[in-house]
Amino acid sequence: MDVFEKIEAFRQEIENYSIQDNGNLEEFRIKFLGSKNILKGLFAEMKNIPNDQKKQFGQSMNALKKVAEERFESAQQQLTKEERKEASKNIDLTAPGEPRFMGSRHPIAITQNRIIQIFERIGFTVAEEREIEDDWYNFTAMNTPENHPARDMQDTFYLKNSAEMLLRTHTSSVQARTMMNTKPPIRIIAPGRVYRNETISARSHCQFHQVEGLYIDKNVSFADLKQTLMYFAKEMYGESTKIRLRPSFFPFTEPSAEMDVSCFFCKSEGCNICKYTGWVEILGCGMVDPKVLENCGIDPEVYSGYAFGMGIERQAMLRYNINDIRLMFNNDIRFLEQFKSTY
Ligand code: DAH
Repeated sequence: MDVFEKIEAFRQEIENYSIQDNGNLEEFRIKFLGSKNILKGLFAEMKNIPNDQKKQFGQSMNALKKVAEERFESAQQQLTKEERKEASKNIDLTAPGEPRFMGSRHPIAITQNRIIQIFERIGFTVAEEREIEDDWYNFTAMNTPENHPARDMQDTFYLKNSAEMLLRTHTSSVQARTMMNTKPPIRIIAPGRVYRNETISARSHCQFHQVEGLYIDKNVSFADLKQTLMYFAKEMYGESTKIRLRPSFFPFTEPSAEMDVSCFFCKSEGCNICKYTGWVEILGCGMVDPKVLENCGIDPEVYSGYAFGMGIERQAMLRYNINDIRLMFNNDIRFLEQFKSTY
């Protein structure tokens, strides 16, 4: 067999080579295209070829190499195509799509947003402040004397090695912060998280949320406060809601009151929620004590104001009939997914 016949034999072998899988493909590559491929031996014959046939031999060898390369490429393409086809056999195009899980707001956020929205409509703006507070803003400025029980280590989380820094125990600290850096008229609501060193139970937690309100201007009266709270109660709990103010005491307001709303569950008929009284307690409020204004650099001879503060968890629990505050902080999806609002 002369070299040209050998070339032809290789060409046929290449074309008829059976490539069924990636293993065959690799064998083919090693045999015809690898660094020690068998075509190289044939190339070595060059020196024995008569001069007038050298050119033709070279061209035929190059053509043969090309045939091998093309066979390799098309076989490789064919195999990946078949692999994909094989894989797609397992896809069920009639299967229904998987529903995409939509998150929803936490009941505390829903309640907080409702409260904010109601007050924003009558010109209050949101003021947010730090949760790590100075003793002065949390207590002293708010007219809470040194020996007041609320300052007790039992209730307040002080920062390690500090008698000054604490986790705010109420959002009333935002009142002082705002008065210190804003000139009246002031009309703010301050939502946020507060902390108290309480034993965790179904009814109380060491962290919860409040919304504070503060209005300071010339000639602000208790009647203004009452009107604002009435508006809030009706927007929050329904047009037929009644309010009741009971005298109370807070160091930072004088006079002070607590507000109840008529029970929206039983329409004041008497139920578990209102403990058969027909009323549920919602917030504390009062006229800002002149001492507080003075502490914060506002002249009590010129200005007066009212303030109120309410717990958010309590209202969320009333509204959604939740009987354990700990549910609010457990992040249990079975609890959270029951609240559908995304507002
Ligand atoms: N800071 C009070 C508390 O945490 C709530 C409160 C009562 C806030 C009366 C006020 C207010 O602004 O006027 O219990």
